[in-house]
Amino acid sequence: MKNLNYVKKQFNQNKSIKINHTYLIEQFFDYKKILKEISKVVKKGDYTLGEQVEIFEKNIAKRMKAKHAISVGNGTDALYLSLKVFGIGDGDEVITPPYSFIATTASIVTSGAKPVFVDIKEDYNIDENKIEKAITKRTKAIMPVHWAGKPCELKKIYQIAKKYKLKIIQDSSHAIDTLYYKNSIVKYGDLCTFSMHPLKNLNVWGDGGFILTNDTRLSKKLNLLRNHGLKNRNNCEFFGYNSRLDSVQAAVANFKMKNKLNNITNRRIRNALLFDKLLKNNNQIQLVPREKKIKEVFHLYHINVKKKRDNLIKFLKSKSIDAKVHYPIPIHLQKASKFLKHKKGDFPVAERLADTSVSLPVHEFITKKEIYHVCNMINLFFDKN
Ligand SMILES: Cc1ncc(COP(=O)(O)O)c(C=O)c1O
Repeated sequence: MKNLNYVKKQFNQNKSIKINHTYLIEQFFDYKKILKEISKVVKKGDYTLGEQVEIFEKNIAKRMKAKHAISVGNGTDALYLSLKVFGIGDGDEVITPPYSFIATTASIVTSGAKPVFVDIKEDYNIDENKIEKAITKRTKAIMPVHWAGKPCELKKIYQIAKKYKLKIIQDSSHAIDTLYYKNSIVKYGDLCTFSMHPLKNLNVWGDGGFILTNDTRLSKKLNLLRNHGLKNRNNCEFFGYNSRLDSVQAAVANFKMKNKLNNITNRRIRNALLFDKLLKNNNQIQLVPREKKIKEVFHLYHINVKKKRDNLIKFLKSKSIDAKVHYPIPIHLQKASKFLKHKKGDFPVAERLADTSVSLPVHEFITKKEIYHVCNMINLFFDKN
């Protein structure tokens, strides 16, 4: 099967890979049904903040047990607007993990605030027990990331936020359908932000994002903030931004949510548990700790290997298996973070996981047989090395 990836270089490298990390073509094999929905949008001329957007916001809020959903242009805007709705900017500090996609930290920096990193735990999530130590007079918010779709320790984070009067902005880009001890994650903080980038579990044909909240006042303000602060065509309440989810993308999201998302979530969970089962006896591998009462949705599936990580990846690629690293350089060691004056050793867990992490394909299209094959190849590699 032909593999198309949005990064051309990646596509060229992966031509020979049979078990892929992403299946962008297959994700939308029934695209004609979606085009039909989109043609209705076009016929109505309903391009911005129209019916499809309203349907999406209503349904995603219901699905995630939130009072309100505010759709926006992408997941990075969702984070940025969440900071801005609280007036966070110059002189403020926001606590966040150094291990995430760069957009989490970037949203803090572009808001004008300073990111203050707190190390992660073995499950890649922020270490809730280290947060209090990082709080200063300038701290305004905590921005945890539910990495790979495993919710952070929200009860503890919520208690800390309450004690120090901080806002919680949950970067939930990986966490559609996740549950924290049977509860909606939206319950534990002010705002939850999501991305619908094509590689996310719920995805659209380009960029898209949304924010969930139970706070009606915040919801009203965010609705204005994403649309120039306009109350109506002629009245501007305050100066805002233009970050709307296109109606065309909302039509795609509505189709996927209705017809596919249950299957995507269930298959990813099933696949991840099978990987856990087949790899748990390999003493060269450290699995991510699981908690029974937490519903993880496995946007990514990681293992950590005790040695020869890069050789293992090379070996798997030679066997047509696409293994990746999400991500090899923690944010505090990126060139872009130079102004924060961090050095190697500042966040040892994030650094160790970045050096030892392997991300395996866990998506809804991988078959049980392929998972057995991937695990056999991993076990074979360690038998030989
Ligand atoms: C954890 C995390 N936060 C934020 C984002 C940004 O989302 P977007 O690409 O929609 O702006 C992503 C996207 O990859 C992400 O993985």
